[in-house]
Amino acid sequence: MASCLYLLLAFYITFSQAQPFKAVNLGNWLVTEGWMNPSIFDGIINKDLLDGTHVQLKSTKLQKYLCAENGGGTSLVANRSIPSDWETFRLWRINDTYFNLRVLNKQFVGLETQGNKLVAVSNTAGDPETFHIIRNTNDPTRVRFQASNGQLLQAQSETLVTADYGGSVSGWEDSDPSVFIINIVRTLQGEYQITNGYGPDKAPKVLQNENTWIINAPILCRKYGIKVIVDLHAAQGSQNGNEHSAARDGFQEWGDSYIQDTVAVIDFLAARYANRPSLAAIALMNEPQAPGISLDTLTKYYQAAYEAVRKYTQTAYVILSNRLGPADPTELLSFASTLNLVAIDVHYYNLFWDGFTKMSVQQNIDFIYNSRSNDLRKVTTTNGPLSFVGNSKIISYFNYIDEIGLCYNQQIPARNHWASFVVDCMMEFFAGEWTAEWNVKGASKEDYQKFAKAQQEVYGRATFGWAYWAYKCASRHWSLKWNIENNIIHP
Ligand SMILES: *[C@@H]1O[C@H](CO)[C@@H](O)[C@H](O)[C@H]1NC(C)=O
Ligand SMILES: *[C@@H]1O[C@H](CO)[C@@H](O)[C@H](O)[C@H]1NC(C)=O
Repeated sequence: MASCLYLLLAFYITFSQAQPFKAVNLGNWLVTEGWMNPSIFDGIINKDLLDGTHVQLKSTKLQKYLCAENGGGTSLVANRSIPSDWETFRLWRINDTYFNLRVLNKQFVGLETQGNKLVAVSNTAGDPETFHIIRNTNDPTRVRFQASNGQLLQAQSETLVTADYGGSVSGWEDSDPSVFIINIVRTLQGEYQITNGYGPDKAPKVLQNENTWIINAPILCRKYGIKVIVDLHAAQGSQNGNEHSAARDGFQEWGDSYIQDTVAVIDFLAARYANRPSLAAIALMNEPQAPGISLDTLTKYYQAAYEAVRKYTQTAYVILSNRLGPADPTELLSFASTLNLVAIDVHYYNLFWDGFTKMSVQQNIDFIYNSRSNDLRKVTTTNGPLSFVGNSKIISYFNYIDEIGLCYNQQIPARNHWASFVVDCMMEFFAGEWTAEWNVKGASKEDYQKFAKAQQEVYGRATFGWAYWAYKCASRHWSLKWNIENNIIHP
């Protein structure tokens, strides 16, 4: 696994031949995002126990939670009434029923070197860190763990957790110290989860080979006069800990030591696409997250990756994503001004922040005209990099996208198990992601229309253009196709 190269990308396709572009993201085509099409996970055995599922484990006998004392580095205890970070374990799936459990400080739960006590001290997972999870078929929240010594785990006392249970396993009574309740507190449904969830034999049959798609998309886009932006969404190590960024277990681990490999991915993409007339831009990294990724590390990577692109093309734009999280939205401007043909990518969602849950329809709309408009102005400077946040001819292009999609589905016999790409098509000042979805409950069609119109008006000022997330989605307001067909958005 460690040696596998992750190439996880998204394609954006644009409806205009020149910036400002109006674009749409082909989200979930090349990098799986479970929420956009949950049913694709249905064929996985124990599909609630995928890589990165965060679980808390309560001893039924003691009515206390298992805890990696200090968050890891020492023994496991079973004396916590209220579970929090130290009591949360991240699954690494080996197969349908065998797992490793990683704790807050990133060690794996395992057997002590000599003896049967449970500890969380190893930074790698081997046999002693591997557990067979046995579920009660009548109540799958009741589980037992079999350790590598063949014995079952038991919470003997609040301070002694061992793998040496010798009692009966015929029932699942509360009084049995080998029985635990498994609470699932977070799930990830990304590319890592689906490929490892189905396993190497089934995954290629369920998924398609994005490598073939990668080769063909720009050719098809050219045929239809559509431009392409290729966007690296899932860098090995994970640049934000989310399911769409190659995270195995939700830890954000991308950093300096990953720069060289990630630049090699960009070099590969640039070499492959540079001569395609449909290539509008290459986006170096989607949604790096602050503070886990420092500005210094990010600009070091952007500089090296920019140079990799420029070895092959002087005309394609290079898109630099602003950091998400606590970061100054103008922090890349001076760096970007030293480069040619670049765009700063900003993502604007009236979601993912508590403040939006309390906003009315009008407050959401005002927020776009005031706050977003100001934010956009800050990154849209004269002679500076362009800004990116879609196009009037979108409707007629739908048939083309669907046809491209058809080719995508048919031409791809088997997805390479461990590698995947997402490609976004677009660049400059780029409002690279927005959507008509929001937190307003019970909004009318007219409300949605006004909200989308406000966003088109404001994001239309982005000098590189905008891109809607996404073309198709099970959650309909996220689907540009659905919004257009239902008269919500008039691009
Ligand atoms: C749990 O047990 C450990 C080890 O004996 C002890 O250090 C800790 O204070 C205990 N915590 C609680 C909440 O009882
Ligand atoms: C699952 O993995 C465990 C641990 O590596 C192994 O012992 C077991 O045979 C595997 N089961 C299957 C069905 O491959």
